[in-house]
Amino acid sequence: MKYRRSLTMTAAILAALCLVFGAAACGSGGSGAAAQGDETTAAVPAETVNADAAETPAEASAAAETPENEETPAPAAETPAAGSDVLVVYFSVTGNTRGVAERMAAILGADTAEIVPAQPYTDEDIDYSSDEPRRSRIEADDPASRPEIGGDEISLEGYGTVFLGYPIWYGQEPRILDTFVESHDFTGITVIPFCTSGSSGIGSTGSRLAELAGTGDWLEGQRFSGSVSDEELRAWIEGLS
Ligand SMILES: Cc1cc2nc3c(=O)[nH]c(=O)nc-3n(C[C@H](O)[C@H](O)[C@H](O)COP(=O)(O)O)c2cc1C
Repeated sequence: MKYRRSLTMTAAILAALCLVFGAAACGSGGSGAAAQGDETTAAVPAETVNADAAETPAEASAAAETPENEETPAPAAETPAAGSDVLVVYFSVTGNTRGVAERMAAILGADTAEIVPAQPYTDEDIDYSSDEPRRSRIEADDPASRPEIGGDEISLEGYGTVFLGYPIWYGQEPRILDTFVESHDFTGITVIPFCTSGSSGIGSTGSRLAELAGTGDWLEGQRFSGSVSDEELRAWIEGLS
């Protein structure tokens, strides 16, 4: 496992972002995977990229299909046939992180997956203005707490880059993120944490998650307001290169 700042972004993310924002701008007409260090592979299939985020990834992929009788240059041989190499995984209770994650995925042409708690959080559970010990507070105060994940199993297989989004709770990542990273193998994957919050920064949550994961190439994370604009998201993604 490695944790490093975004300024030290490796060629893999650069290559992936070249594919997102146009291979021509990156001085290459090809596409496909690029090496990350000596073990990570990251690439976004060009045909799934939605440059203006006006469509869903699925629509973008469908729209990019070449009609049979239209003369269009064949894709490079190494271009993956389908699917995305980028996954946006998120946990969200009141919808802010979900909204940011979905818009981020639309920009990237990425897949999304939601971390769903086995026991849903009630309004009372997340009432952080209460003086009473609420579930979210109890979990935050116990670094060993590992809330169980429900829903569909999230598989990271086939992904070279994972954006990992969550709200800030009491200055920390919700403990269910700890459950998630400890139960997944990020070997060969570049992980980019991001969070939403009222005002708090992302703090040391990214480095803590990297430590708990024990695998993966973790980049410095980023905090967003739930109302961050698509332009700001796009600029941040471009800045990762
Ligand atoms: C239990 C709880 C604790 C929170 N603690 C903080 C905090 O320490 N700092 C902060 O800026 N915002 C805090 N917030 C606000 C959330 O981080 C913010 O509303 C976030 O966007 C919620 O994400 P979600 O809608 O995806 O669940 C807290 C919210 C909850 C529910």
